[in-house]
This record gives sequence, structure tokens and C-alpha cells, in this order.
Amino acid sequence: MIIIKSLRELELMRESNRVVAEALQELAKNVAAGITTEELDGIAEEHIRRRGGVPAFKGYRGYPASLCISVNEEIVHGIPGSKKLQDGDIVSLDLGVLLNDYYGDAAITVAVGSVSPQVQKLLQVTENALYKGIEQALVGNRLLDISRAIQGTVEAQGFSVVRDFVGHGIGRSLHEEPQIPNFYSPTAYNPRLKEGMVFALEPMVNEGTYKMKILEDEWTAVTADRKLSAHFEHTVAITRNGPWILSSLNDEKKSLDLAG
Ligand code: MF3
Ligand code: CO
Repeated sequence: MIIIKSLRELELMRESNRVVAEALQELAKNVAAGITTEELDGIAEEHIRRRGGVPAFKGYRGYPASLCISVNEEIVHGIPGSKKLQDGDIVSLDLGVLLNDYYGDAAITVAVGSVSPQVQKLLQVTENALYKGIEQALVGNRLLDISRAIQGTVEAQGFSVVRDFVGHGIGRSLHEEPQIPNFYSPTAYNPRLKEGMVFALEPMVNEGTYKMKILEDEWTAVTADRKLSAHFEHTVAITRNGPWILSSLNDEKKSLDLAG
């Protein structure tokens, strides 16, 4: 069952996602050669608590940190530690916040110092694929219209879409129905989209194969061929006036006539 949110609930989710977005912005400013991933985790947690929120990932199925930091060939769920970032790395920062009983969730991938045009392209295509998916988050469309748009954008540029992790509904739980694959399959669940649905869309895009492995820490997912991977995520509400990107600091509230 896909839980429909009221306008009041969307407004609360906006506040959770605002904290996520501000924290990611602050993290991006701090990404530089020499900083450790656990220092970034500390910055994230401090920001969230200062705003009265709770880090959503900490303790989730035993995950030990506030932030997931996935460097280079790491796809998702990298655990912060003493690793220092280096010039030329790419770093995915994935953050969730619980505030006023509602979750927010978003991710960005940023480069440390200078990276090659091919690597810049990987980041650009992944972010672009997210926005192409968001464009399809429309009342009356079907769920897999989002998936198809993401996959098409990625594959047209010669990259691959990760199969083992998907986007998700979000609200009073971090993960609600439905699952939102970043690729099309004719047998996948494909409901019509309705006003008040809220989705965390999160393409993970690989330079090479889409296949992955989980490291010994039982969390970190890496590309099977150890080529690079990027990840962008937004929490998006479906409204009659189009997608409302709750985790974007630039997307201010549209005039919504959802039920209060
Ligand atoms: N954005 C990811 C997701 O929604 C991150 C979850 S990390 C975990 O699945 F630690 F909470 F599992
Ligand atoms: Co998510």
C-alpha cells in the first residue's frame, strides 16, 4: 500500500528535507583533500541535532553512523572512518533525517579537487538522470515512467544503472512502499501516481558493469569491476502542480490545494 500524505504532512516532510539539504550543502563545502570521512559524519550529525532532528540512518538495521560516505568504486552505504579524502576522488554523501516524526532523505556526489572530463560526465549524467526521473513524477503517470526515464538517460551516455538498490516511498518510515527501481522491467509493480505520494528517487550509476559486491563490513557496496560509481537522491512529492522536490533548497512550495 502506498501511503498518501496530506498537505500538512508534506509541509512537515519539507522541514525534515530542508535539514538534509542544508547539511549536504555544508558537507559539500567541507569536502577537500585531507579530511576524514568520520569528520564529515560528525559535521552532518552536529547539523542535524542543532536543528532538533535525529540522524535517520544511525542504528537503522545496525548501521553505525549518521552519514553514508561512498568513495570512488563504492556505490552506497560506505561507513565513515579514518580514511582521508584525496584529490581526484569522487564522494557520495547520503543523509537521512527524522524530524517531527517524518523522514527526509537525499544524496549528492561531489569531486575532491580536479577530476577528468569522463568523471565529471559520470556525475553530471547521474544528476541529470535523477532530474529526468523527477520530471516523470506526475499525477496520472505510472511508477515505471520514472524508472524508464532514469535508465534511458544513463544508458544513452554509455553508463549502467545499479540493479541491487532502488528508490522508495518515504514518510513516517524511512522506507515505505513502493520500491522504485532505476530500470524498467515489464513485470515490476507499476501503479498510477497520485497526488500526495512521496518518493525518494535515487539513481546509482556505474562507469562499467552494474554488478556489485558487498565488502567484509557487510555494508559497503562496491562495483564488481572496481570502476567508479555515483549517486544522487531527492525526496519528491507528487502534486497536481507537478513534482515538489522537498530536499531542494530552491524548490519553494507551489500553491497546493491538497486536503489539509
Ligand atoms: N538512502 C539510502 C536508502 O534509502 C540509505 C540508507 S542507509 C542505512 O536506503 F544505513 F540507513 F541503511
Ligand atoms: Co533513500
